[in-house]
Amino acid sequence: MLLPTQLSQYERDGFLVLEDFVSARACEQLRKRSLELVQAFDPTGVFSIFSTREQSRLTDDYFLESSDKIRFFFEEDAFLPNGQLRQSKEKSINKIGHALHDLDAVFDSFSRTQNIRELIADLGIELPLLLQSMYIFKQPNIGGEVDCHQDGTFIYTEPLSTVGLWFALEDATIENGCLWAIRGGHESGLKSRWMRATEGGMRFQIFDATPWAEDKLEPLEVREGTLIVLHALLPHKSLANRSARSRHAYTLHVVSDKSQYPKDNWLQRTSPPLRGFD
Ligand code: FE2
Repeated sequence: MLLPTQLSQYERDGFLVLEDFVSARACEQLRKRSLELVQAFDPTGVFSIFSTREQSRLTDDYFLESSDKIRFFFEEDAFLPNGQLRQSKEKSINKIGHALHDLDAVFDSFSRTQNIRELIADLGIELPLLLQSMYIFKQPNIGGEVDCHQDGTFIYTEPLSTVGLWFALEDATIENGCLWAIRGGHESGLKSRWMRATEGGMRFQIFDATPWAEDKLEPLEVREGTLIVLHALLPHKSLANRSARSRHAYTLHVVSDKSQYPKDNWLQRTSPPLRGFD
């Protein structure tokens, strides 16, 4: 799947952009399926907001118990002061997570293709497990910013084996909130871990409190069908979407079953058990 030059690019930069990895048809199928899931979702009483700016305060049981479910999280700016949605449910959801790849047939087959299996093998991930999936809408006008972070903060293993796969299901531009990354930024260590606190809820364990060199972030503008492979330590972010166009993306995080998976990671899966590319 990967050329030796691509592998060395990934090792040098901490990310790899693979254009036309997914067909337009597969992107369309996933967009269509996500819309069906949102239409079938009854939000009564479950307004859970996703914000990385206030990860601790806004994290709730609805989020923490979503590792083996298909759950829906709202944009922070989706609501009027009186708590009503400003716009339709379909235009208010920030993301769906975190077991789409195991519980929904369309997401399952999108996530378990021969191409992805070979890519993961080329990256040297032994005994891969598909840990979590997210459908991210980055809604027009209200799509929230995602702060600069390393995926290893949220999905930690020992040794670190997490690989993030970020599929552009629509063109991602600076205007509609594409990814930004610090090329080579994976060479510095893990800055923090987001872990379950003994008193309940979540907390950050900080290893390095220096701020991100955000002036080094560069935009990764990509077309629909592009896959961006993200190293667990790569600093990346995305800006808010204030444009009139959405920026749908699907992400999949893979870990190695040869690594230790800590019991204080937020995501704990018991049933159904995690699967690879079977
Ligand atoms: Fe991320």
